[in-house]
Amino acid sequence: MRHPQWVRLHGRLADCTLLPAPQFCDNLTVARLARQVPGDLVECGTWRGGMIAALAATLPGRHCVLFDSFAGLPDAQDVDGPAAVHWSQHLRDHDNCSAEERWVHEAMGRVGQRDYDVRAGWFDETVGAWATMQRPIAVLRLDADWYDGTRLCLDALMPLVVPGGVVIVDDYFDWDGASRAVHDHLAAAASPERLRTSPADEFAYLIRSGPRPPDPRRSGS
Ligand SMILES: C[S@@+](CC[C@H](N)C(=O)[O-])C[C@H]1O[C@@H](n2cnc3c(N)ncnc32)[C@H](O)[C@@H]1O
Repeated sequence: MRHPQWVRLHGRLADCTLLPAPQFCDNLTVARLARQVPGDLVECGTWRGGMIAALAATLPGRHCVLFDSFAGLPDAQDVDGPAAVHWSQHLRDHDNCSAEERWVHEAMGRVGQRDYDVRAGWFDETVGAWATMQRPIAVLRLDADWYDGTRLCLDALMPLVVPGGVVIVDDYFDWDGASRAVHDHLAAAASPERLRTSPADEFAYLIRSGPRPPDPRRSGS
């Protein structure tokens, strides 16, 4: 769905995200599925922070957590597939996706979001340490392109996603490593989770299964 206000929001954040408007709006449509679910909004691979800022604006009142090296992508490996290795060796668009950290503060400021935590560094130095706090996650957005980062974040953070929470895998249809990471994670966890395609066919996501907290509006029968 492309609500006019989401298209306007994209316009305000366009220099802070690599996502074009249709994909940006598709993310907001899916993230809204978790609007009744308690927990943080977490993005692994923020670049300049425009997408997580938009999630914060669309699901207000949440703590946001931003993970990024701000030094760009690590080199793609064979597991990421030949197209990724070619990109990594020869193309490296957007300065290999590097970004100055000041941009994420700019993006959060534009939507008035003050409650956020930037964890700068490689995921293997930041994500596990954050996960020890055991904070519940309502929306986990993975946008790390390659196998290693995607797998590490899934292994560490999926257990924190609350039933009914949403896990978005931005690169599932783009890079072999991202899809392999999802499949390997789910297989290793013996997980029955089902993958879904976003409404505009932009990315894959899943809705965390498991018993949800009782809805007080339906109790008393
Ligand atoms: C495609 S960009 C993210 C785009 C962003 N979500 C947006 O809204 O435009 C991928 C990001 O993942 C980060 N990244 C990838 N692998 C990483 C790793 N292992 N550790 C830390 N950051 C990583 C890169 O620094 C880069 O900023």
